[in-house]
Amino acid sequence: MQQIDYIKEIAKYGLENDQEKLLFTLNELIEHSKQTKKVNFALQLQSILKDAIRQQQTNGIVKIGSPKHILREEDREVSDFILEKLTSDYRFPNLVCSEAVHAELAYFIEEHRSIELLRQYDLPVSNKVLFYGPSGCGKTLAAYVLAGELEKMMIVINLGAIVSSKLGETSKNLAKIFRRAATEDCIVFMDEFDTLGKIRDYSQDHGEMKRVVNTILQLFDYLPQSSIVIAATNQKDMIDDALLRRFDLSVKLELPDEAHINELINKTLASSTFTFDNETKAQKVIKDSLGLSYYTIQKTLLTAIKRSLFSKYDGQHKSQKIQTAVWADLINQERRTLLEAS
Ligand SMILES: Nc1ncnc2c1ncn2[C@@H]1O[C@H](COP(=O)(O)OP(=O)(O)OP(=O)(O)O)[C@@H](O)[C@H]1O
Ligand SMILES: [Mg+2]
Repeated sequence: MQQIDYIKEIAKYGLENDQEKLLFTLNELIEHSKQTKKVNFALQLQSILKDAIRQQQTNGIVKIGSPKHILREEDREVSDFILEKLTSDYRFPNLVCSEAVHAELAYFIEEHRSIELLRQYDLPVSNKVLFYGPSGCGKTLAAYVLAGELEKMMIVINLGAIVSSKLGETSKNLAKIFRRAATEDCIVFMDEFDTLGKIRDYSQDHGEMKRVVNTILQLFDYLPQSSIVIAATNQKDMIDDALLRRFDLSVKLELPDEAHINELINKTLASSTFTFDNETKAQKVIKDSLGLSYYTIQKTLLTAIKRSLFSKYDGQHKSQKIQTAVWADLINQERRTLLEAS
């Protein structure tokens, strides 16, 4: 379904007062938005949804969801700012990147594995990482790789909710999340970190905006050595300089070169039996993909695989060949879109 179809369904169920279907569709739209990389929009929808559910629970009119979702009073405000708490299965091989980036990340991991050694010599531990660079080049993925490699839980902070919230208790709640992360030995992940810069536009209350940024500065400054904070942004210039200076490690994830595209394609196809029907042409398409993101290249390849499957499916056996021409067309479309946007 497209975004527009979800909106039509939401309007329909809203007008019909069908809460159950409305919530179901809204959740689907949130998922769809995440997958189509409208993460800020997804975060804001999620926070509207949470607000509404909390309102209804306290009003006691309609109960939504199972009782186990009802949190203890003191946790409720905090939970509004937590998008999810997860463990990650991602590891280094999932991330295609330059050797320099790989080495930086490997050192960071090493520091946390050898934290006792560093302590013995009174050496500081790097624990605040910023990933930046163009969209679809693995910033969010890199955060998951760190969590996976370090085998730590990760709390994903809902910055969208912070921006769209009434802000009153924001600083206090952020401090609570950081405390909780420290006691539970979790990584704090602030994805779409530039959202913080947008508080300026949303909030009437400039004083409160400054308080939120100051709170984060303080939380960073007093972060226990064993705690880890990861932030990611594709708009580094939106972030306050004082915040940028606090990061021990700033890692730029860039658009892929030809070798990286080849690696991405090989990894994407590795666990399948799909191969290109024309290897020479595939290499040409790879060259044509320069300038596009990992995300776009992978997405078009998967679409080409699906379309090749459909066109050759004879009900008996599925074709294992990718129609390279289909992929070439999709890549060309993406290049045109990119040109139009620039
Ligand atoms: N460097 C990479 N190596 C392997 N896969 C990648 C890489 N970058 C992106 N991908 C693929 O694209 C998907 C989206 O990437 P990701 O969400 O990490 O991008 P991002 O840099 O966070 O983009 P945005 O700035 O839009 O949030 C990943 O889940 C993965 O499938
Ligand atoms: Mg991201």
